[in-house]
Amino acid sequence: MTVVVVSNRVVSPKPNAPIEGGLAGALLPAVRDAGAIWVGASDRLSSGKDPLIEIEPLGEGAIARVDMPAEFYERYYEGYSNAVLWPAFHSRTDLIRSSQTDYTAYREVNAFMARSLLRFTHSGSAYWVHDYHFLLLADELRKLGITRPIGFFLHTPFPSRNIMLSVPQHDELVRAMLSYDLIGFQTEDDLTHFADYLKRELDLEGKDDTYVFEGRPVHLQAFPIGINVQDFAERATKASAQPEITRLRASIQGRKLAIGVDRLDYSKGLPNRIRAVDRMFEIAPEMRGSMHLLQIAVPSRTHIPAYQELKQEISQLVGDVNGRVGDVDWTPIRYLNRSYSQAALAGFYRVADVGLVTPLNDGMNLVAKEYVAAQNPLDPGVLVLSEFAGAARQLDSAVLVNPHDIEAVARGLIQALTMTIAERRERWNAMMAKMKDFALDAWFNDYVAVLMDCRKPARVVVTK
Ligand code: G6P
Repeated sequence: MTVVVVSNRVVSPKPNAPIEGGLAGALLPAVRDAGAIWVGASDRLSSGKDPLIEIEPLGEGAIARVDMPAEFYERYYEGYSNAVLWPAFHSRTDLIRSSQTDYTAYREVNAFMARSLLRFTHSGSAYWVHDYHFLLLADELRKLGITRPIGFFLHTPFPSRNIMLSVPQHDELVRAMLSYDLIGFQTEDDLTHFADYLKRELDLEGKDDTYVFEGRPVHLQAFPIGINVQDFAERATKASAQPEITRLRASIQGRKLAIGVDRLDYSKGLPNRIRAVDRMFEIAPEMRGSMHLLQIAVPSRTHIPAYQELKQEISQLVGDVNGRVGDVDWTPIRYLNRSYSQAALAGFYRVADVGLVTPLNDGMNLVAKEYVAAQNPLDPGVLVLSEFAGAARQLDSAVLVNPHDIEAVARGLIQALTMTIAERRERWNAMMAKMKDFALDAWFNDYVAVLMDCRKPARVVVTK
């Protein structure tokens, strides 16, 4: 049975191009190995009415890149998706910039994607839609007469009801989401927020996380996403010999290295991270000259003002710390505003003594899992992880910190940098064991199995 996977972002057609964001990176191996068809936006826009689709083989399956409508794409992507839904879902209501025109564009693009998917309608297929760009897609597909199972998975957090209410179109959005058969979340907390909205706003009572809306059942379930641990570990081992990694190792000259790798996004807590490193040099002056932070901040959504302002803020903070704390032969923070291949990142993670992953709010955060998988089992590094990343549910043996508490992050960093090898190994083994229970292929297969079950006759609930 073929699954048609849909997301806005798909991997770039350029060979060895860096993967942008957790979603595309996570879906690539899962889709490739499961033989699914993966449909998403191409990097071209089209002004024609009929969808232009380019299909290319991908492992056992295929990738289909759709030229999105020029008239609406910007307002859909930079407008509604990333200046309303993204900030709202990350509880940054102060950054919501809402306009009816953007919402109209969002609806148009969802309807356009539904029409594009008709190309892949053949008996036996189910649709699995990913992320906040396509909340309305199932509703649009149903309007086109699709009766196959349609699932949705949210890679970001789902906010508490109160915050969801700040999205002007919340009612229309959530009602449309109930056209999905299965709605998957990263954590139980996200599911609880959504269920609370259903109960208090729509007066819906669920039984075993299944709700009946307009006579149809909708099932909610948490499916925490993971990584292929073994694959990533092998990639890190192989990468160690690469020139880029050798250069990094040589350049730190035996000092300790902490690493942060994030899209340049306000949800990632980068200013607080820099402040925490600064504070660490105050409370542990012996760290001056003996550690570096390598912070890779990958440019993201660069046309959106909130992202441009964040970039300015981080540059200033980094410049201030380096100027004040650094020395002629030592730069405390190496700040790189560019992306790297997954292979290079795997190698960087292995070299680093500490992985600093301190988002203010994050659906899962796969960098945390990749950092752990990349470690040398005999001499593993330490993960310092925000308790507000979904990954903290599985990686509870990391040094967990509250990213709003600068002092606590600074102390967590010192704890990590000075941890004994016995404790490092113990924590690392515990995290590896947990990660193996949440492997990527299991995530994909479990979700699809539940989705396929959704429209079996036994589950259909008869309307009163
Ligand atoms: C997050 C989102 C993804 C998105 C990625 C990169 O991981 O959950 O849906 O693709 O960020 O963002 P971008 O806007 O570049 O696709």
